[in-house]
Amino acid sequence: MCGIVGYIGTKDASNVLLDGLKRLEYRGYDSAGIAAIDVGKNIEVRRSAGKLFNLEKKVHAHPVKGHIGIGHTRWATHGRPSEENAHPHVESGVAVVHNGIIENYLPLKEGLEKQGAVFKSETDTEILAHLISRQMKAGKALEDAVRETLKEIKGSYAIVVISKDEPDKIIGARMECPLVVGIGDGEGFIASDIPAILNRTRRMIFLEDGEIVTVTKDNIEVKTIDGKVVKKTHREIDWSPIMAEKGGYRHFMLKEIFEQARAVADTFRGRISEEGGNVILDDFRINEKDLQVVERFYLIACGTSWHAALVGKFLIEEFVKIPAEVDIGSEFRYRNPIADKKTLCIAISQSGETADTLAAIKEAKRKGSKIVSICNAIESSIARESDSVIYMHAGPEIGVASTKAFTTQLAALYLLSINIAVKLGSIKRETVKDLIQELVKLPKKIEAALSNEPKIEAIAKRYFHFRDFLYLGRGISYPVALEGALKLKEISYIHAEGYPAGEMKHGPIALIDENVPVVVLAPKDATYPKMLGNIEEAKARGGRVIAIVNEDDNEASKKADDVIIIPSASRHLSPILFTIPLQLLAYHIAVLKGTDVDQPRNLAKSVTVE
Ligand code: AGP
Repeated sequence: MCGIVGYIGTKDASNVLLDGLKRLEYRGYDSAGIAAIDVGKNIEVRRSAGKLFNLEKKVHAHPVKGHIGIGHTRWATHGRPSEENAHPHVESGVAVVHNGIIENYLPLKEGLEKQGAVFKSETDTEILAHLISRQMKAGKALEDAVRETLKEIKGSYAIVVISKDEPDKIIGARMECPLVVGIGDGEGFIASDIPAILNRTRRMIFLEDGEIVTVTKDNIEVKTIDGKVVKKTHREIDWSPIMAEKGGYRHFMLKEIFEQARAVADTFRGRISEEGGNVILDDFRINEKDLQVVERFYLIACGTSWHAALVGKFLIEEFVKIPAEVDIGSEFRYRNPIADKKTLCIAISQSGETADTLAAIKEAKRKGSKIVSICNAIESSIARESDSVIYMHAGPEIGVASTKAFTTQLAALYLLSINIAVKLGSIKRETVKDLIQELVKLPKKIEAALSNEPKIEAIAKRYFHFRDFLYLGRGISYPVALEGALKLKEISYIHAEGYPAGEMKHGPIALIDENVPVVVLAPKDATYPKMLGNIEEAKARGGRVIAIVNEDDNEASKKADDVIIIPSASRHLSPILFTIPLQLLAYHIAVLKGTDVDQPRNLAKSVTVE
């Protein structure tokens, strides 16, 4: 998510804002800006693409006066990273910064344009400045104008607003994106995250969804969106600054594991119509004529993203009913692939900068194939090389080990497969409605899967001393076995192999004895009876078995030494849920091993060399 800072007090607002944004840099961003009000004058805005240093240079060259202001670091979701898309967005003396995604911004924007509004950016956020200023022109006070505006908004938001007509307050509001209020002496703060203001005050109030706060120099008032006053007590935050950067989690990886329910929801936010039974991917720009001639899909990726591609094959072939091949990025171009206008390539990359994947799609493009990419980083090299990009909207992933990137890639592949299937007429509308229903239920199931953490931590204590692990899965769970093994090896440095369970008897079974734990993925799907056999085979050779099972399991859980139970879901979405305990198991084993969980040895977050 992006970074937000708001200030009102007696200090120079621009210094407080820039300092606060710097303390949020770790979250990743691609542009930044501040706005301040010098009382009696208009709002002054300074924005820049790229690093905060560029913004600081601009503010130094053209200082901004005033003791009230707002600032923002942007991780682009709508509209490329640029100065004109950077926040704050200003309209008629109202300045807004926003985290989150406004699902219904297009119809709202069209309505405003019809009334003569002129937009200066490609962002969804800018409509907030227009809507709030329109309310104020109709006579509403700032707080009421914000409230009325938010009643029109669908989606997630953390916003902070100032107005030159009411320069004695800052207004904040949240829905599904965090917002914290800092209480100072004769000053007040609002931020998206504790680290931004922890050096200013340790007295903080945390907003809940649907709450609006008005902060003046000497007072803080919280209300619901319906105007009911909410009594809040402040908390004394005793975190160290580094702890605060991780939101109280010990590592970024753990924070990102626990962000997955929200991240997956953000991936499908604004892209599904439950009643209409449709997936709307405005950013999928392969036209129907080019789609009609496709006879084969290539899913190309590396590492964790390659595991997502392996799951994607199941989704494409089942929904679209066209063959899909999966290639590792570094292998694709050396096999002289048959690629032309009848092949559609789907490149999957969190960073959008992986050299092997980029080289592969350049080769496919050279041969005439269209490219769709699934990326997290807006305007990244792979995104720019593609004919069409589906962004995951996962927010920055700081930990080197991919976690929310993987689960949001699977959600994006699910959406893309359904969208293409509907366009090609290979799926019934009723089926789409069911599939969408399954997706909408997923975030709550992710939370349930995450609630296993204490049990998984206890299991990690019994297994962290082992030197070799085997992960087994079948069908759509086999890529999850690969992912679980990769998570363990890359952060704990323990050797771990993911294997198709049916292959056990063709070799790996020779490895199994009391020193080689076996992690078995046993969803209640068509492969379940065979997975029971694999558990018995491993047990018969002295292997200890950790089974990941569904809540209605009554056999695997009796045979295994340790059992982790997760909610049942459709077979297409089970990989997202089955991955979560494996992420947590790898994490807790690594912590017990004392490795550098967020920055494991020899690894980089983005491998930009071949
Ligand atoms: C997985 O945990 C690693 N971070 C690594 O395998 C990663 O998935 C791979 O380098 C691909 O990165 P990308 O998704 O940014 O292309």
